[in-house]
Amino acid sequence: MLLDLSTAAGPGGAVGGERGTRGRSGKPRTATGSGGPATTDEQAELAPVLNDAATVADPEALRRAREIAARLALRRPRRDTAARPGAGGVLASVPYRGGADDIDLDATVARIAGRAVAEEDDIVVRERISSVRSVALLVDVSGSMRGERVRTAAATVGALAAELPRDNLAVIAFGSDAAVLCHLGQRIAPQTLVESMVAIPARGLTNVAFPLQVAARELARIPARDARVLLLSDCVHNAGPDPRPLAARLPRLDVLLDATGEQDRWLGGELARLGRGKFRIAASYRDVAPALSSFFAELKVSEEAMANKWFETVAVAQRRAKRRLPKSVYGALIAGAEAGVTIRDNVDAFAEIGLAPRVAGLPAVREMATTVMGQPISLPVVISPTGVQAVHPDGEVAVARAAAARGTAMGLSSFASKPIEEVIAANPRLFFQMYWVGDRDEMAARMERARAAGAVGIIVTLDWSFSFGRDWGSPRIPEKMTPREMMRQAPSVVTRPSYLYQWLRNGVVPDLTVPNLPVNGAPAPTFFGAYGQWMGSAPPSWEDVAWLRSQWDGPFMLKGVTRIDDAKRAVDAGVTAISVSNHGGNNLDGTPATIRLLPDIARTVGDQVEVLLDGGVRRGSDVVKALALGARAVMIGRAYLWGLGANGQAGVENVLDLMRSGIDACLLGLGHSSISELSPEDLVIPPGFTRRLGG
Ligand SMILES: Cc1cc2nc3c(=O)[nH]c(=O)nc-3n(C[C@H](O)[C@H](O)[C@H](O)COP(=O)(O)O)c2cc1C
Repeated sequence: MLLDLSTAAGPGGAVGGERGTRGRSGKPRTATGSGGPATTDEQAELAPVLNDAATVADPEALRRAREIAARLALRRPRRDTAARPGAGGVLASVPYRGGADDIDLDATVARIAGRAVAEEDDIVVRERISSVRSVALLVDVSGSMRGERVRTAAATVGALAAELPRDNLAVIAFGSDAAVLCHLGQRIAPQTLVESMVAIPARGLTNVAFPLQVAARELARIPARDARVLLLSDCVHNAGPDPRPLAARLPRLDVLLDATGEQDRWLGGELARLGRGKFRIAASYRDVAPALSSFFAELKVSEEAMANKWFETVAVAQRRAKRRLPKSVYGALIAGAEAGVTIRDNVDAFAEIGLAPRVAGLPAVREMATTVMGQPISLPVVISPTGVQAVHPDGEVAVARAAAARGTAMGLSSFASKPIEEVIAANPRLFFQMYWVGDRDEMAARMERARAAGAVGIIVTLDWSFSFGRDWGSPRIPEKMTPREMMRQAPSVVTRPSYLYQWLRNGVVPDLTVPNLPVNGAPAPTFFGAYGQWMGSAPPSWEDVAWLRSQWDGPFMLKGVTRIDDAKRAVDAGVTAISVSNHGGNNLDGTPATIRLLPDIARTVGDQVEVLLDGGVRRGSDVVKALALGARAVMIGRAYLWGLGANGQAGVENVLDLMRSGIDACLLGLGHSSISELSPEDLVIPPGFTRRLGG
């Protein structure tokens, strides 16, 4: 139970805070570091605040507070020039959240067009947003913050209180427990807050989860768009429950990490990332003002809400990704080997196939759920593995979240930028993809890591022949993102400010390493280091494939099949599924479009293994065509990468929604109530369309 005695001091009165003096028996359960924050089961309490206002005069803390305040430039929420005179707040287009002035019809129609099911969030209203911000400031006063660090923390509290006189500020000091020094709406003189902070003895462990809970309670009645939390801590020796889920539930959490002593940057960065805020590091009290200024640099919610980021086709996503991403990153996505014959044919071949629609007796409800390699999926579209880096800071984790949100499975490349353990946490329906890199022992160890992480299937991709050279020029991919390399890339990156901003906000630069390739705890190699090892590995035989299959007791896909004889050998090797694939036109240029190869392969082995297709899928109607020609489902590559580049996780969800609504529209037009009813009869296939390779 939360016991809050701070009101005893009364509004406007001086307060003193004291942390609970109970002995803390909770020992961290896990070590801090990349494995997650230390946690204990111990419950924290709101500590009593002294009635007889405990304050300690500290001229140095006050001087610092004045210096920080003098350097602060906190931008106020902007006022809309169209706002009616006298009416408070900013008039902005925002998603409907229960209160509204009036519907923004244009924005709403743009959002719901093409959606199978409109959500409440799709309704955009013109709403007056308060220009008063509600800020909960959480200040760490645990043992590790003793001395100068608490003084800087106190100065930060004083400076913010002075700088936000028209806003609501809550101040919560915490260590193992927490004390509310100032409730939201209470007005306490900045000097009193500084002196109250200095009076609190710094001791105990850091329990970040508890003040996050207290802050959530303080902000409970504030609309999310006006509420934010600032955490000032070294984040070190964290105890108590894992704070990350709580951070994710806050409207926004910015973290200022005191780095003058021991610290846990990983945890600080994670909390800011999950809280959709910024992460800044203070190596001295002089870093506080620029950090706070950057936290308040933009009126985030209304700006984001006003931008209509929803796109209505994959082609629009591609254009946006092109505008948004640096040239080299976008260049790596479009790829396509040599003259681009295959990549073009993959797309164009779909356009050659027509549809044979019906006009009456159409089904009111259409079903498109199926299974792939034992995994139930809500639409016949799976995320194809792509070893592509630097598109988005959350990379494959964002893709996994989107796939999970839309009820489908994902292939994760062994050349991906995020470790499998992190990606699986976001979507357990994960197939780990492997190339033949190293020897059998190494392949088995890599598989073992995937098994331990919880992968539900394996995809082995064998169509890669190390061809290079594109007629339109290959993008330059650096060996490693060093400061020197960043300077080199700067001209192309500074012309893409939103891309740059996204990475800076996360406090990282793309490091271009491949964390899923090393085995037995070896460090992650660079992309090119790994590529070199792969080039040096002996190509696998069919015996190797059968051996690899025997090492995995779950579903197993062979990706990259284009020939009938290879499809039969894959069946002999005991695979569960094949993907008819030419690596999206990135491998041997001149390989026919996969949709041309599918019918004969599906006819030959479709009753023995699951047959999927990937390559050139850009629309729901492409999916329907592939299913009508014998595929169980398709995998998509560039379509979701463009969505990711255009709008992160939401962009990938957007692409999956487009696929779903496109499939649904086709089923309706073709008069089918389920994807299982699709057949070649639904299509207009021009003479000579198909290709048959190898028998
Ligand atoms: C940038 C990029 C990287 C890729 N990386 C991989 C990979 O690491 N492993 C893999 O099996 N396939 C990889 N692929 C191939 C895709 O899984 C898929 O076969 C292809 O993208 C399908 O064609 P589409 O992009 O036209 O949908 C990659 C494709 C692209 C475009």
